[in-house]
Amino acid sequence: MQIAFTTQRPASPAVIALPVRKDAALTGLVDGADALLAGAAAGQRFTGEAGTAAELFVASGDTTQRVLLLGVGTGDDAAFERAGGALTARLLTSGVTEAVADLSGIDALYVARFAAGAAQRAWRFDEYRTKLPEKQKPTLAKVTIVGDDAEWTGRDAVTRGLGLARTLATLPPNILYPETFVERVLAAVDGLGLEVTVLDEGQMAELGMGALLGVSQGSRREARVLALRWSGAGDDAPLTALVGKGVTFDTGGISIKPAAGMEDMKWDMGGAAAVAGAMLSLATRKAGANVIGVMGLVENMPDGDAQRPGDVVTSMSGQTIEVINTDAEGRLVLCDCITWVQNTHKPARIVDLATLTGAMIVSLGNEYGGLFANDDTLADQLLEAGRATGDKLWRFPLADAYDRLIDSPIADMKNVGPRGAGSITAAQFLQRYVDDGVAWAHLDIAGMVWSEKDGATWGKGATGYGVRVLDRFVADVCEG
Ligand code: BES
Ligand code: MN
Ligand code: ZN
Repeated sequence: MQIAFTTQRPASPAVIALPVRKDAALTGLVDGADALLAGAAAGQRFTGEAGTAAELFVASGDTTQRVLLLGVGTGDDAAFERAGGALTARLLTSGVTEAVADLSGIDALYVARFAAGAAQRAWRFDEYRTKLPEKQKPTLAKVTIVGDDAEWTGRDAVTRGLGLARTLATLPPNILYPETFVERVLAAVDGLGLEVTVLDEGQMAELGMGALLGVSQGSRREARVLALRWSGAGDDAPLTALVGKGVTFDTGGISIKPAAGMEDMKWDMGGAAAVAGAMLSLATRKAGANVIGVMGLVENMPDGDAQRPGDVVTSMSGQTIEVINTDAEGRLVLCDCITWVQNTHKPARIVDLATLTGAMIVSLGNEYGGLFANDDTLADQLLEAGRATGDKLWRFPLADAYDRLIDSPIADMKNVGPRGAGSITAAQFLQRYVDDGVAWAHLDIAGMVWSEKDGATWGKGATGYGVRVLDRFVADVCEG
């Protein structure tokens, strides 16, 4: 769907959308239609609350004009984004092909948020639906916004990044596995000037990535590490590393998961998808920062060759791990990626994203991602970026007492702790791989990658969570 801007409201557009503040008078919005608008709003119990909408048709010469009232509540920027999302949700498959939204006189920042919400809500994945009824096909091709485009220029980069992340999370696991993940991402970022590194299993074995390779051992698909580096600032500017868990399917391995709901584990690569999406966004908008995105890509399968509970593996850091549970595989993938990026690129800070623990969903449900950090400044910056974008985060503690829970009688550590505090012990495991002096944050996004219901700027399914908060964090903290 295309977003366009103009300065004057066209004479009588077939579809006109108008933002309405809470309890605002509906006068002067559409010529000669004050009474109609008030009646329609009352009839639909529309009071201008953020995210709500009311619709009516008014006569316009010989034709009818469709009017969409979009609530923006008290009118903050998040409310404008929701209103843009509501516009698209209403019209996407309505038969309407073009709509005009009149945001004249509204602050450019809010206009941009509205445009972003409208664009992001249009993403769909219909590739495998060969029998989609005509009436369910999207029709809305263009939204023209009457308003100030000053803050929009370049902002569609995030929407592109979100689209990539959502597509990757949605693709089925027979189609998307480590090698095809790499192919898809490289095709999406082609020509943008990112420096690409791909490690195959032979190279990983040479590097000593025994933890990551142990997870991949039971799969017929070869593992990959994909790294994309964006150098948008000078050589002496600090490097930020984004590291994503990319388990393209997680059966649990020999510690196999129950059948019910196992199909969800196709999106166990949501952390890597967010990193890919963020890198696409940063490179598209030519961010003035140095950022490397590292994606650890494996499939976790049970097999005659699969690793066993009780196996001891040696990670790239040299630390040994007793694999108590082969379903706690994400941390085994991430630890080698963290070591690799520290050894080869010397980042000043690392942010990792992973659908790491079911316990995270027990704690926070599907409303916030969990944040763990060894650095208060980094934690606060991420919390703020989360608040600003709607990719909300909530901080959890780290402590030596939790760390001791993963000591092993036979190796340097085990890959799971006791039942309690499962998300925290997972984070403690990762922290054992972070070098002194490196600021590190871990985002456990298990509850955020997939949504069982429509959201303001996404339909049911892949949310693209993580792309917006990472892009914003880089913009606010790493650029300039
Ligand atoms: N990918 C899962 C975590 C997960 C579960 C994400 C549900 C999204 C929805 C992860 O690899 C896993 O299996 N974690 C185990 C860890 C346990 C064995 C310590 C879990 O959470 O049960
Ligand atoms: Mn698992
Ligand atoms: Zn997993």
